[in-house]
Formats: sequence, C-alpha cells, structure tokens
Amino acid sequence: MRIDVITLFPEFIDVCARVGVVGRARARGLIEIAMWNPRDFATDNYRSADDRCYGGGPGVVMMIDPLRKALDSARKASGSAQGKAIYLSPQGTRLDQAKVEALARRDHLILLCGRYEGVDERFIEHAVEEEISIGDYVLSGGELAAAILIDAVGRLQEGVLHDAQSASQDSFSDGLLDCPHYTRPERHEWGEVPAVLTSGDHAAIARWRRKQSLGRTWLRRPDLLARLELDPKQRALLDEFRREHEGKTTRDRDSGSGE
Ligand code: ADE
Repeated sequence: MRIDVITLFPEFIDVCARVGVVGRARARGLIEIAMWNPRDFATDNYRSADDRCYGGGPGVVMMIDPLRKALDSARKASGSAQGKAIYLSPQGTRLDQAKVEALARRDHLILLCGRYEGVDERFIEHAVEEEISIGDYVLSGGELAAAILIDAVGRLQEGVLHDAQSASQDSFSDGLLDCPHYTRPERHEWGEVPAVLTSGDHAAIARWRRKQSLGRTWLRRPDLLARLELDPKQRALLDEFRREHEGKTTRDRDSGSGE
C-alpha cells in the first residue's frame, strides 16, 4: 500500500511512519509513505499556504493552489492521475473498524490534513473524495487523525503483523470487544491468571475467550451488542457470563468489597 500525506507538519506523520508496527512495515517495504508540504508549493517569499477568512472572523484558511500543487505532485509520484484525497476533519464520517478494513484493502490513499480554520471549501468540492473524523472532538489539525488512520490500516496489511490471527482477533473485527489477556507471572499479589488459560485445553480456552469477549461487550459497549444478531451458542455463552457476573457482584456486595 502507498499512502501520500498532504500536511503542513510532516514531523507529526514522520514519527508514526518511523516507529512501531508501521515503521517496521515501511522498513520492510510493505508500506510506502510520502509527505507533501503545501508550503513547498507556495509562490511568495513567506511560503504562504493560508490566508484570511472571507467574511471576517478569526483564523486563517488553507489556500487552494498550494494544496492543489501538493496533490498533483502526490498523484504524479504515485502514478494515480485522478486520485482524490481523504480529508481528516471533525465534520467527516466517524472512523470505525469496518471503514479501516475497507480502506486497508485499497492500494493507495491520499490523506489531507487540515490546520487552522480548515481548507478552502472549493478544494474540498473538487479534490476530496470523502471526509473522515476520528471522533467528536476537535484537534488542532488533521495530522494526529491521519497518523491514527495510517496505523490502523497499516497494521492490517498482509505480512505486517507477526501472527496472522492477531488482526482477526482484534476488538471490533467481529463486532465485539477483545477478551482479557494475561502473561507471566501466573500468580501475583494482584491476582491469579484464570485457570482455564493454563489448562492446555484449547477448546475450553477458545470458549472462555468468546464468552469474555461477549461479556465485555455487554458490559462496556451495549450499543455494539445491539447491532449484532447473536447465534444460539453466543447467546448461551453471554447468559453464562451474565449469571457469573451477577453472582460475583452479589458476592462483592455481601462481603462489602464493592463499596
Ligand atoms: N481535525 C481536527 N479534528 C479532527 C477530528 N476529530 N477528526 C479528524 N480530523 C480532525
């Protein structure tokens, strides 16, 4: 996959492109990331890429032409003559794992990071294919949102994660949250690892994990659960979790540890 990022602050993206899973994938040639700074395409001595907002008010807006030239350069370098950009903006559609998976299947993305009051609306109308938001809060620019998107799609690329199963076991990949995980030591003053996980019984372990995954989603994200059609086996597992949970909270209450 190739990702071109149009940004006034390439340093933000550079960190994400150099470290961790994405950094390794890039070093191994599995992902290519290129950055284009609209300031490099400015025509004045101040390298201006923004100007005052028509109609008045505070702040400045990113200008069409430096953005357009940055986009043209990204298109030329990537060989995608018609490619439009994905604009990271709080007005966009909220990013979720289904969207990440769809974007991860593409072989080229152009990401546009806004700054200040945003981007001239005419650029959005002509050169943006869609707007994506990472959540209902406002960042000072799209770079962190782009870094999140790059990380989320990068780790799904073939050969990037060591264990082929680890992406399919992620939270959200089947619409559910992930189950809890434990590592050594088995016994600790803060508790013991659930016995089933050290039993060596793979079927029992898989069943426990499915149950925890359903239970966690029920406890923490009932909105996700409401969107799913559980099969009878899943329903039975969730009922079992709920009975155990009910028993545990009653015991905690009776022993006073829940206070
Ligand atoms: N830019 C500023 N805020 C943002 C958000 N919530 N999502 C994506 N891009 C943004």
